[in-house]
Amino acid sequence: MANFDLGKRDSFTSKFGVVAAAAGSAVGLGNIWRFPYVAGENGGGAFLIIYLGFIVAIGLPVMLSELTLGRMAQKNPFGTFKKLAPGKPWFLVGLMGVVAAFMILAFYSTIAGWTFEYIYNAATNAFAGKNPDELQAMFSTFQSSTFRPVLWQVIFMFLTAWIVVAGVQKGIEKYTKILMPILLVLIVVLCVRSVTLPGSAEGLAFLFQPDFSKITAGVVLEALGQAAFSLSIGMGTLITYGSYIRKDNNLGSTAAQVSAADTFIAILAGVAIFPAVFAFNIDPKAGPGLVFEVLPNIFQQMAGGYIFALLFFVLLGVAALTSSISVLEVVVAYFSEELNMKRRTATIVAAVAITFIGLACTMSWGVMADFKLFGNSVFDIFDYTTANILLPLGALLIVVFAAWFLRQQQLKAEVTNEGSLKGRLFGLYVFIIKFIAPLAIAVIFLNGLGILNF
Ligand code: PHE
Repeated sequence: MANFDLGKRDSFTSKFGVVAAAAGSAVGLGNIWRFPYVAGENGGGAFLIIYLGFIVAIGLPVMLSELTLGRMAQKNPFGTFKKLAPGKPWFLVGLMGVVAAFMILAFYSTIAGWTFEYIYNAATNAFAGKNPDELQAMFSTFQSSTFRPVLWQVIFMFLTAWIVVAGVQKGIEKYTKILMPILLVLIVVLCVRSVTLPGSAEGLAFLFQPDFSKITAGVVLEALGQAAFSLSIGMGTLITYGSYIRKDNNLGSTAAQVSAADTFIAILAGVAIFPAVFAFNIDPKAGPGLVFEVLPNIFQQMAGGYIFALLFFVLLGVAALTSSISVLEVVVAYFSEELNMKRRTATIVAAVAITFIGLACTMSWGVMADFKLFGNSVFDIFDYTTANILLPLGALLIVVFAAWFLRQQQLKAEVTNEGSLKGRLFGLYVFIIKFIAPLAIAVIFLNGLGILNF
């Protein structure tokens, strides 16, 4: 497995290890918390179709580009650009990734903290006997309080930092290989329960019957942002992971497998959530609290709901951790490799700073509820800005760099492992990263932000 001590650069030992680590980064709250809430706010079916299109046409090629650049340079994102483009301002893309990592972890730790509260609730059987309204009230009371959400956030950040410092990835990944498949099974069980609830059909229609009249420039940008966020692309996480991948790994198939797994889990989360949303009369536009308001209802309607709920939230917490370590790693690799900080110091400094910024996200429903910029809370601003602005912009610059700045032979040699792979799709890949992906991202971006109007 990856040893993040960049001093003695280690590498993933097995093919499965590579996929497991990258999938560990990709699969997280983005799939189970963010996908349903953003799909719900953006009209369901039509959003899903656009999202799937973006995964294939943009997400996958960007992911392959990141893995390739990282493995080529054997460095953190900032160092990768410095090495491949000496004396040029491309290293700014790496810096943008560090900023994005700070902001993402600030609000990611809020939601991960909510997951911990729900582990506690599940363990103490706190959902039992409550109707949908009561469960909703329980969530909003918690969300707007001060002490508990902050406490859980601090605990989550502590665990993230501890894993990154201790370098216990070996242990962590040994467990995630077992735990993540169990999470998958649990989601499938939830899907079955959800679609067999009375009144669930409307939810399936919401998710799978596209209503194209709901598509606006804003919806398209949200779909792109969600695709980038969920695949962990656009900020250098996968450049970092790519630097740990051995030279004989087929990066194209790794990227394809990780994207497929990530997308499959997001769709399953949708199938678990939306039928229940309609069965229990919950508003699909409920926002970031959606899954926390919906899931306990499903568990209540299940035989063995107590144990399923407990297992589910524990595994969701683990999935959040395997993603958050990959976000923190971007900052730590930068601090330690480029600013010559000791790894331990770098991790502590980064984690403490992120936790402080994160407090403002966590308190966005409580003490800071009235603090708004252009009508948005700090949480909303961080969530929106990273997913819909920083990650697409990062993705755009990364593919432009790979396609237009590197020599094509150099790129081909890395992608095809010096010609030992046939690379039959290489031409298509280059065409996409040269033209399709950059043009599409630029248009969606300018249009979605209202800078251009098509
Ligand atoms: N992809 C992760 C998730 O879905 C979040 C993430 C975003 C991780 C960006 C790394 C980089 O939960």
